[in-house]
Formats: sequence, C-alpha cells, structure tokens
Amino acid sequence: MRIVFVGRDGTAEAEGRPGERLLDTAQRAGQPLEGTCGGDMACATCHLILSPEDFARVPPAAAEEEDLLDLVPGTVRTSRLACQIVLTEALDGLTARVP
Ligand code: FES
Repeated sequence: MRIVFVGRDGTAEAEGRPGERLLDTAQRAGQPLEGTCGGDMACATCHLILSPEDFARVPPAAAEEEDLLDLVPGTVRTSRLACQIVLTEALDGLTARVP
C-alpha cells in the first residue's frame, strides 16, 4: 500500500506492508524517526502527525500512548506514535507529517 511522508525536505512515498508497523515503513523509507525504544512506548521518538482524515481511519490510541504523547512537545490532536500503528490494506494512501 502507498504511504506518504511529509517532511521538512518535501514529500516521500513509501510502500507499506500489511502487518508491519508504520514506524518500520518510515525507517525503511529513510525518514528521520529514531524509534529508540523499539516500539515499547517509552521514547516517543516515533511521533508523527496524521491528517485529520487519516487520524479517523486508524484504530484509536491506547491510554498509555495518549499519556506518552502528553509529554511530547509539539504534539497536536492528530499526533500518533508510529510504533503503535499496524498497517492494513485499508490504510492505503495514509499521509503522515514527520515533525
Ligand atoms: Fe519508542 Fe514508539 S518507538 S515510543
């Protein structure tokens, strides 16, 4: 499926694989997401901002994810942790801004 990353240097498209985490797609595409904790919801270095439409398409964040995002500067209502989003075909065309 097609995933679009919008960064400071422009827009990049990546091929997402069903079942993988959005973090993995982003890193494979060379996006600057550290993902330091490896997806254990401990670092928030995988913070991405979704479009409002896509935010509504992904499963809602767990309370632990919300709590961690509350501690991150620069988050907005549609912020998510990329390690917590597992791709499905239904998410084709997902667009995420890399802060
Ligand atoms: Fe650490 Fe997502 S990789 S919170």
